[in-house]
Amino acid sequence: MKSKASAPAKVILFGEHFVVYGVKAILCSINKRVTVTVEKTSERKIFINSKIGKLVLEPDKSIAEIDSPLKPFYYLANKAIKNKDIGLHIEIDSEIPLGAGLGSSSACCVAGAAAIFKLFGEISKEKILELAIEAEKTIFENTSGADCTVCTYGGIMEYDKINGFKKIEDEPNFQLVIVNSNIQHSTQSMVSKVQQFKNENKEEFSKLANLESKLVEEVLKLVKEKKTKEIGEKINQNQKYLETLGISNNELTKMIKIGQKSSFGAKITGSGGGGCIFLLTNESNLQNILKEFKDSNYECFSTKIDFQGVNTF
Ligand code: MEV
Repeated sequence: MKSKASAPAKVILFGEHFVVYGVKAILCSINKRVTVTVEKTSERKIFINSKIGKLVLEPDKSIAEIDSPLKPFYYLANKAIKNKDIGLHIEIDSEIPLGAGLGSSSACCVAGAAAIFKLFGEISKEKILELAIEAEKTIFENTSGADCTVCTYGGIMEYDKINGFKKIEDEPNFQLVIVNSNIQHSTQSMVSKVQQFKNENKEEFSKLANLESKLVEEVLKLVKEKKTKEIGEKINQNQKYLETLGISNNELTKMIKIGQKSSFGAKITGSGGGGCIFLLTNESNLQNILKEFKDSNYECFSTKIDFQGVNTF
């Protein structure tokens, strides 16, 4: 018997990095997904296969000894077959660009937790999220949990580390454009970089975190009032705070400049240092924007908020 699950990519609209320190963020899921298929095997081994490589290991290995981006899947599989005389075969199929700030590893953890544990009985979204965050911590210890949360529940939400998530019920119909710098980044190292900034600039960081917090509250009001143009201005403002944290670079700044000229607003999404930016736009301007980035040889696509979180089938 096979168990399958899929989970969406995500965009952090406001509040990345600050969310690690307790500030509220606004995130949404988008319609690119990872699908994980799992099957029990009689041989007591964990076999993981994906486009980025293979991992075949005996169960019960120490997680610290495993040097592979597929480690979260091993963690989940090992936990699921503890004290059982079986192995697992796991196949990963993803449409989400890797290391691009679109939540590829969180979506993998969520779809992996759902597909693996569904083999052994029904599993709630709460439990999927708990397992996914445990798995994500094997590669990124300081995760705020925001990415796995939106990949599990889908839609658009506010999130903070203490209160968890609250869906934004107005369900705005944002038209987004994602542009990929194709510079891969590591979330862990970008989060460490921001931590260093915080340690060296305590007062400035605290001021920025307060400004970000205020900005997020203002955006929540603007979303209710459907004031897209003003939300765009807040996106540009948030980009300035991220630049102050030092997570932009020449390439991203160049992309942001093009984006901010032709849309309501543009900013980095995710941990920065590479990865993607997003633009808020509308239908009438969409084709021009895509053409402009494509003509400059950027990989880009248009997307909307996707209201489906993790799915099992
Ligand atoms: C990464 O997608 C978002 C960060 O805020 C880290 C986190 O929230 O765990 C940079």
